[in-house]
Amino acid sequence: MLPLALQRQIASPDHTSQRDRSLAETTFQAMNTFVRSIEDQPDWQISGPLIRSRECTIYKACSVGAGLELAVKSYLAGINPMASVKQAEALSNCRDTMVGKEKKYAVPEMHAYDRHQGFLAMEWVAGRSLHYNLWTLSNKEQSLFRVGRWLRVFHEASGIAGVEEKSAKYLGIVEKRIGDHPARLSAEGPDHALFVSACECLRRAVELELSFEAPHAVSHGDFTPFNLMISKERVVGLDIWGTQRKPILDDLIRMMVYLTLAYPLLTRQQRIDSSNGFHQRISPLLDGYGLDLIEPDSLHFKIALLSEYLRRWLIIARRSRTFVEKAFDSYQLAQVKKLIVPLLDSIR
Ligand SMILES: Nc1ncnc2c1ncn2[C@@H]1O[C@H](COP(=O)(O)OP(=O)(O)O)[C@@H](O)[C@H]1O
Ligand SMILES: [Mg+2]
Repeated sequence: MLPLALQRQIASPDHTSQRDRSLAETTFQAMNTFVRSIEDQPDWQISGPLIRSRECTIYKACSVGAGLELAVKSYLAGINPMASVKQAEALSNCRDTMVGKEKKYAVPEMHAYDRHQGFLAMEWVAGRSLHYNLWTLSNKEQSLFRVGRWLRVFHEASGIAGVEEKSAKYLGIVEKRIGDHPARLSAEGPDHALFVSACECLRRAVELELSFEAPHAVSHGDFTPFNLMISKERVVGLDIWGTQRKPILDDLIRMMVYLTLAYPLLTRQQRIDSSNGFHQRISPLLDGYGLDLIEPDSLHFKIALLSEYLRRWLIIARRSRTFVEKAFDSYQLAQVKKLIVPLLDSIR
């Protein structure tokens, strides 16, 4: 007898073809066996898919008998075979330091993981994402401050230590993206000249400062507004990829670029600091992290920031989207161009 949720799932309009129906049935049966391996209770209810993304789908599994509410992340076969392995490793690395309901800055507790099926079961995290908070009337500065704190606690969990880093890495990130589809660079449109001169500026800056000493820690790897859940009591980081030590600024800069490009309610009518292109309202993120370890005026910070802006520019310009999404992408591209200009001026 299939769980009720599975019967609903199979009947849902999402899965009309025979092939999809049997795929959903197989996934649910495998997931049912998987959650029963955590605790063998007859009352497991699996619902979903609740969220679908490029690489995975999220289901919710609950059992009153086991007293558990879990998020089960199911990785799609063949896209990134190492994804579940990396996330499981990243979560278990901070089990001692950031797991537990009493932790104000936490990661979800992992309950089980099946590499072959690509299933990862973790604590279901209540709350709203930072992304949600930034699009609503909530206190955005406070959310950013707490998210900055979260990152500091996360970095400290693996120990922060100064290491020499090569600036060419940041140029390499952009060159690799261009190299993936060089023929399509012309599709970057009428502002192509700005893109080319920004790359040139990045190249020159890298030559000026071939390497720099920077604090390193195990990185989050995808520190974006979608991957932080915020509630009154806790901030919980999701979707942790990083198992490698990297400059702490890599995580911060990924977030800062997202914040300045994709959140009009956050950055509207705010003064842009001409030295680094930041909006004043981004600063709670840095304050929360602690300014003792960040040098936003340094050349290496600007190199990393410019590299991330150019990387996002290429991603946004090249993705295929629906009509409405395209309008928002145009807004983001206009933002990149607006923000890159003062940044280039401050590097030159
Ligand atoms: N443990 C969890 N508890 C509650 N919601 C979650 C949990 N894990 C993921 N989600 C939700 O699913 C979304 C996608 O999960 P995520 O792990 O970020 O996968 P992706 O790699 O697709 O970004 C998250 O942005 C969040 O809204
Ligand atoms: Mg995510």
